Amino acid sequence: TPRLPVTLSVNGEVRTLTLDPRVTLLDALREHLLLTGTKKGCDQGQCGACTVLVNGRRINSCLSLAVMHEGDEISTIEGLGTPEALHPMQAAFVTHDGFQCGYCTPGQILSSLAVIEEIRAGVPSHVTGDLEAPIPLSDAEIRERMSGNLCRCAAYPNIMAAIRDYLG
Ligand code: FES
Repeated sequence: TPRLPVTLSVNGEVRTLTLDPRVTLLDALREHLLLTGTKKGCDQGQCGACTVLVNGRRINSCLSLAVMHEGDEISTIEGLGTPEALHPMQAAFVTHDGFQCGYCTPGQILSSLAVIEEIRAGVPSHVTGDLEAPIPLSDAEIRERMSGNLCRCAAYPNIMAAIRDYLG
């Protein structure tokens, strides 16, 4: 397969790669841009470890080809905060131990932020079908919206506590 130039904008930085068009966005991030904060769990759309934001919306980057994302703004965990200045959602995960091994954490954090944006944007709930999510959000609502991000250590109660803390 001929390789193609692909220009990606990741965390505000524009990079041109030469890629086999079959390379997933996940592999482009990890193997070509060396942004290994985005994790590969199942590589088939089931675990959410590879969650990144594309124009503010979350996707499983293992299910998307890098060539599909020219012109998009891609955000990964590396773009969120720094060890000295964590993003408030990262800080909430630290405060509440919203992880054990940490492998799913980048995906959990990006997904949490996307959930809040989805609620603000009126993306319907799978639980209630309502366009307007009830405020305050129920735990069931948050759990449903986070259900695409698996944690094999089962840190779910602490992840929930972190999201709740962030929401205030
Ligand atoms: Fe993409 Fe599991 S690695 S969903």
